[in-house]
Amino acid sequence: MLKIGVLASGRGSNFQAIIDEIEAERLLASIEILIVDNPEAYAIERAKKHGITYLYINPKNFSTKEAFYEKIRDELLLREVALVILAGFMRIVKKPLLDAFPNRIMNIHPALLPSFPGLHGQKQAVDYGVRISGCTVHFVDESIDSGPVIIQAAVPVHPDDTEETLSERILKLEHRIFPEAIRLYAEGRLKVEGRKVKILNYKLPDTYFTNPEIKQ
Ligand code: GRF
Repeated sequence: MLKIGVLASGRGSNFQAIIDEIEAERLLASIEILIVDNPEAYAIERAKKHGITYLYINPKNFSTKEAFYEKIRDELLLREVALVILAGFMRIVKKPLLDAFPNRIMNIHPALLPSFPGLHGQKQAVDYGVRISGCTVHFVDESIDSGPVIIQAAVPVHPDDTEETLSERILKLEHRIFPEAIRLYAEGRLKVEGRKVKILNYKLPDTYFTNPEIKQ
């Protein structure tokens, strides 16, 4: 069974989507720990409700970012975590953690990378005036939102969209493709070759792409 560690900073709706897939037995994995960098994170309530161990690690207790990430790494290794999930973790992951989990850290970003990396991907898309945006699950490397892409899903951007309305539309797909990417990993079907991810024996469902038949 794939052992997962989740890092989050806030609401945790993606964390919830993963919990739901596991509880429905559609994803064969176990969440060994939730680590938060924010004591107010709503993700903590979700962990409590589902009996998941959680840990608040205050970055201010560490003199360097490296030391903070060493602590996170050690907590994950202690629990024999095989895959690390960034579910709305609002920090740039540093070397001690990256080196311990090469191509074993996944992030979700609310835009079609490499467009609109960084904060507020949805607002960036609205402000730019693109017609299509979406979300991306990718492996994490040392840069921001730049690692190998695993799955993307697209949604239309309507002329009257705001950051909020577009975020809502994208979020529904985030909740589908993040557990899906973890499932592919759990099944040993993701092979990273350079900056490309090969998905073995897999055809992406058409629903991951903009389709006027699908009510978003
Ligand atoms: C999501 O929009 C995700 O794409 C981004 O941060 C947000 C986290 O939302 N990385 P939640 O905490 O999972 O509800």
